[in-house]
Amino acid sequence: MEHFLADNSESLREKVVLLDFGGQYSMLIARRVREAGVYCEMLPYDTPWERIREYNPAGIILSGSPASVYQEDAPRCDQAIYEGGVPILGICYGMHLLAGDLGGEVKRGSRSEFGRTSFTIEEAAPLFKDASFREESFCNGWMSHQDEVLKPPPGFNVLARTENDTMAAIGDHERKIYGLQFHPEVFHTPGGNNVLKNFLFEVCGCSRTWTPQSFIEDAVAKIRRVMGEREKVVCALSGGVDSSVVAFLLDKAVADRAVFIFVDHGLLRLDEAEEVVRLYREKLQGEFVHIDARDRFLNRLAGVSDPEEKRRIIGNEFIVVFKENALSRGDITYLAQGTIYPDVIESGSAYGSAVIKSHHNVGGLPEELGFELIEPLRELFKDEVRLVGAELGLPDSILKRQPFPGPGLAVRIIGAVSAEKLLLLQKADAIFRNEVYAAGLAEDLWQFFAVLTDVNVVGVKGDDRHYGPVIALRAVISEDAMTADWARLSHDLLGKVSARITGEIPEVARVVYDITSKPPGTIEWE
Ligand code: XMP
Repeated sequence: MEHFLADNSESLREKVVLLDFGGQYSMLIARRVREAGVYCEMLPYDTPWERIREYNPAGIILSGSPASVYQEDAPRCDQAIYEGGVPILGICYGMHLLAGDLGGEVKRGSRSEFGRTSFTIEEAAPLFKDASFREESFCNGWMSHQDEVLKPPPGFNVLARTENDTMAAIGDHERKIYGLQFHPEVFHTPGGNNVLKNFLFEVCGCSRTWTPQSFIEDAVAKIRRVMGEREKVVCALSGGVDSSVVAFLLDKAVADRAVFIFVDHGLLRLDEAEEVVRLYREKLQGEFVHIDARDRFLNRLAGVSDPEEKRRIIGNEFIVVFKENALSRGDITYLAQGTIYPDVIESGSAYGSAVIKSHHNVGGLPEELGFELIEPLRELFKDEVRLVGAELGLPDSILKRQPFPGPGLAVRIIGAVSAEKLLLLQKADAIFRNEVYAAGLAEDLWQFFAVLTDVNVVGVKGDDRHYGPVIALRAVISEDAMTADWARLSHDLLGKVSARITGEIPEVARVVYDITSKPPGTIEWE
């Protein structure tokens, strides 16, 4: 399988390599560097210098780590990086490591400086060049480590000290090697971004080459190069942001040789399938195939109430439908997929910071299909995918779409799925979504949706007792779906949604609001 765009030797793009020692903020450092307009690649801490050199890095950053440099099995980097002539910035553990490696002295700190600590700057240029750092109020670092540098290595100056006289920053201007005791990447460090930027632009001499436009140009060129003159590519569209951005990139690169397949499994939200089909038809130049597989999926799901079984059936059926259409054509070599950076990152996993991988794979396609794989988004974080999408002209309806499970509403109908239940849930969900949008809250929420429970309860409609299902509303705030808090929606809003759902959908007897966080709950009900 070709690791599309993971091959850096071909691109002339400027890069900074981040060696990941497993620090909890490693991914954040990479994002901050990229936000500053410089491409940053995370590599495992023990990547050999020979391999790092292939990236032709403009700078190297050594991340933090939960480990201490005294530990016997402390993670170490290849010593040759110090001799490579490439500027280095060590952050926290990275600072202790380089200080020890280069002949300085590191000791477990007598005072542990966790949290806010202010420091005074002794040498402003180049790292603290920005004027804001000369003001005491901006000199607050975010410390989270007990170890500290006692004696800087030969050739190093102390650039900043904390109130307790700990070295907050050291540097060897000659060799362009710097160390920070604090975390410039976390938002608690005011002006920390400027320190990173000073490293990138003043020390490494980077220019801002990492932009959505430059990414698109590179990706289009690479798609064309990889695909040659005649080969064709197929891409499965889901209506989600990743597959849509892949499709628009392919369309820009090789529209006349791209086939886009949208399998409508009937499990999307109200009117969503129609909307995305309209959009794809209107905007994509390549061949667009819309497969109405709603009945097939419903038939397969009939009578199945186990959630994992539903997921398995939907995943398998998707592959079968896709295969029927893509393989039968016989003229397609490549399959394009929307794999993104957090899914592929190789990182210093030996030292803890869990590499968070999606545990959900429904809607994915197996390798055995026999296509060569093209994954143009392998380098991008999710927010970068959105920026690229915006640059490619995708509408907000796709770019800001909330995360939606591959098996769709099937896992929001508790128990067996039927056409009637689907429609009922779609209507309730649409009412809830519309009211959240109308209240201007959509952007603050990670996900908000309705669930059709399998509980029938009593209610009164007119003068009669009425038995009908309970609709549960779920709205959560989250950063990454690994944890989530239930959203404190106002009682007025909840009341309005409840009144509309019971009023406009006669079958529904009651509406309840889910006030469970994750953990112990999950975001979805199944
Ligand atoms: P949970 O319910 O585990 O969900 O807290 C975490 C995130 O994953 C989404 N989710 C899925 N996505 N296939 C998917 O593609 C699935 O089977 C699936 N189940 C849950 C969920 O919407 C949330 O964003």
